[in-house]
Amino acid sequence: MKLNIALLAGDGIGPEVIDQAVKVSNAIAQKFNHEINWKPALTGAAAIEAVGEPYPDETHEICANADAVLFGAIGHPRFDNDPSAKVRPEQGLLKMRQKLGLFANVRPTFTFPSLIDKSPLKRERIEGTDLIILRELTGGIYFGERGRKDNGDTAYDTMTYQRFEIQRLAKKGFEMAMKRSKKLCCVDKANVLESSRLWRETVQAMEKDYPEVEVTYEFVDAVAMRLVQWPSAYDVMITANLFGDILTDEASVIAGSMGLMPSSSVGSKVSLYEPIHGSYPQAAGKDIANPLATVLSAAMLFEDMDLTAEAQAIRDVVNKSLAEGVVTEDLADGGKAYKTSEVGDWLAANL
Ligand code: IPM
Ligand code: MN
Repeated sequence: MKLNIALLAGDGIGPEVIDQAVKVSNAIAQKFNHEINWKPALTGAAAIEAVGEPYPDETHEICANADAVLFGAIGHPRFDNDPSAKVRPEQGLLKMRQKLGLFANVRPTFTFPSLIDKSPLKRERIEGTDLIILRELTGGIYFGERGRKDNGDTAYDTMTYQRFEIQRLAKKGFEMAMKRSKKLCCVDKANVLESSRLWRETVQAMEKDYPEVEVTYEFVDAVAMRLVQWPSAYDVMITANLFGDILTDEASVIAGSMGLMPSSSVGSKVSLYEPIHGSYPQAAGKDIANPLATVLSAAMLFEDMDLTAEAQAIRDVVNKSLAEGVVTEDLADGGKAYKTSEVGDWLAANL
């Protein structure tokens, strides 16, 4: 197969972790006889510096015409401490999601047998956890009407959802549930919010099309609690943009390191693959960041291209590296800490 993949390394540790995913993907391409054509493009603070824009039109063209986008991380402390900054790296990410129509954010949380004791949660609580939070990504309060009034003393952000936005996300959730354990949980705040009541109404109306799927409805505050009490009780969850943002950060600690979990953002055409961690500026350039979340994001990319054996080969070699202690410092626990680039080399060599 011939693949054109847009490569958006972004900021902080982005370029370093992306390099490892490229190494591993190229090794996969060689092993399985594919041809990958990487198309690097600018995004984030790096793009602001170069052209004054965090998601330049040129980058959009490259992404829109690619088979998939592999993305590193976005964000730079220079902007975080400056409330007056007019352009921010994060705006690039939001613009990219919107312009590429990436409405469904797939964020899995699973445990690695060899890392279970690294989790802040007790082993017996998290064993068997394998859930997916499907977060709506192009609507809700992130993109609703916002502003200031009363001379700036009142600020507002509005959470608006249209039925079709809920339907297309829920459809993905039902389909995913059908391929897994046929359990779907709709997470909302329908006891308070009108938009959440539209979510419930919409999902309830779809239940008849998927009679085999057992659907539950839970309030987001209760889910925040249950997610750390009994994460293994969940399978596929669907939720609004902001709720999903918060819950997926919460869920990310279950596995034991922020550096482990991959994600995809799916649209009607091109999809984007990225680690769930941020740009980790303190580690930038030090060759110490964990590249596994990005490598596993590449596995999700292959999986979505129906290259299942390729995806599995990546997951297998990642498990092997963990079992053999070929890990970066976040997982080294006093043992030998490998460099980011050494982990990438090892994975590529051991495929
Ligand atoms: C995420 C991030 C982004 C979000 C930020 C950087 C805009 O937190 O991908 O979860 O809030 O969606
Ligand atoms: Mn987030």
